[in-house]
Amino acid sequence: MAEGLIKRKAKAASVAAAAAKEDPSSAPSLTIKHEAVFIFGLLCLLPYVYYIYVLDLDDAIKRSIHINAAMSFAGLVATVYVIPVAAKYVLRRKMFGYDINKKGSPAGLLQVPESMGLVSGVVYLVVMFLFQHFYFTPDSEWLVEYNAALASICFMILLGFMDDVLDIPWRVKLLVPSFGALPLLMAYAGGTSILVPKPLQGYIGFEILNLGWVYKLYMGFLAVFCSNAINIHAGINGLEVGQTVVICCGVLVHNIMQIGSVGLERQQAHAFSIYLLQPMIGVSLGLLAYNWYPSSVFVGDTYTYFAGMTLAVAGILGHFSETLLLLFLPQILNFLYSTPQLFKIIPCPRHRLPIFDPKTGLLTGTKDLNLVNLFLRLFGRCSELQLLIRLLLFQALSVALCFLVRYIVAGWYK
Ligand code: UD1
Ligand code: MG
Repeated sequence: MAEGLIKRKAKAASVAAAAAKEDPSSAPSLTIKHEAVFIFGLLCLLPYVYYIYVLDLDDAIKRSIHINAAMSFAGLVATVYVIPVAAKYVLRRKMFGYDINKKGSPAGLLQVPESMGLVSGVVYLVVMFLFQHFYFTPDSEWLVEYNAALASICFMILLGFMDDVLDIPWRVKLLVPSFGALPLLMAYAGGTSILVPKPLQGYIGFEILNLGWVYKLYMGFLAVFCSNAINIHAGINGLEVGQTVVICCGVLVHNIMQIGSVGLERQQAHAFSIYLLQPMIGVSLGLLAYNWYPSSVFVGDTYTYFAGMTLAVAGILGHFSETLLLLFLPQILNFLYSTPQLFKIIPCPRHRLPIFDPKTGLLTGTKDLNLVNLFLRLFGRCSELQLLIRLLLFQALSVALCFLVRYIVAGWYK
């Protein structure tokens, strides 16, 4: 018996040694940045939380918001716990990336686990499915759209993960998210009419214009745009998740400010957006804890597509897509500025990232046409963390500008 035990022990030791030889990084040491993410999350959420308590909201809605918020927090905790486990498995499958903005330093040699947005995505779907139990009665008419929204988000997570695994060529990549929008477009039963801006009403002769299938085309375009726009405003540690959290918080402030001053149906639409986005913020902050500078994990296209789609779905079903586009100002600028490279009018390398100087630890902008490089060229060389903070501040300023523009324009537009 003792001999058997010794044999078994020897076998286990040799398997462990072989595994270590084959994959020395099989047990990654991930660092978690509690403080930075706590402060960032708090700053982003403060205006929204302030309005929840200052505004006089309907009790039932307030209760659902609280339940959803508690579940979102559970989603955050679950994400934080699952990521280290998932990181081990993706490394085993050789799914890792090298941190390009640390090239030339020891950190640039580390194998960083990729596609950790998958954990956020799965936890998000679990939270959203469970939330149905508290929110919907079986005859609820919103249930169809809610499930279609989740089907679209789920499909998008799959497409993003597929992209991470297969590394799809760029032109195909731009179109892939249009498939993700299909479940939502097919189930969409809301209005397809728009309010004609007041100054144009005199020329056109009517107030409401029914766009029919053109409106659905626009919805599809929104899903494709949002996913790609976040995916190409990326490549700096924490930027993909950081921008998503800032935009989500901007949308939540818009929802909560509108919810008390609109009719019952519009009220439902804004509440719906809140229920979609609070869990998004929860799972994103959980991911950001590992993805904040210096990143221990990368989020992958799984996350960027998932985030873009979730925001697009909230904008479509919440009927505030114009406001959503205003919140996407940095992404729109980045997209427009990138078009010569995206459409191959001028050459587009695989990565359009700055150059890192290991001696000074500073990044220098390249000629590539995106906001990351433009910021470095305009405001001078800086560290990756400084660049991240500058870009996130720009995102927050765009949110403030969006509210100002909405406030000024709403008077003559609607
Ligand atoms: C998009 C951008 C590309 C950018 C990349 C970075 C376009 C047309 N494409 O490509 O320019 O370089 O995103 O996300 O604009 N990485 C880092 N640090 C980070 C995040 C990512 O070095 O903080 C690197 C890692 O090597 C990682 C890789 O980027 O493995 C992931 O790139 P991927 O998301 O696959 O690139 P794309 O979405 O195709
Ligand atoms: Mg990407």
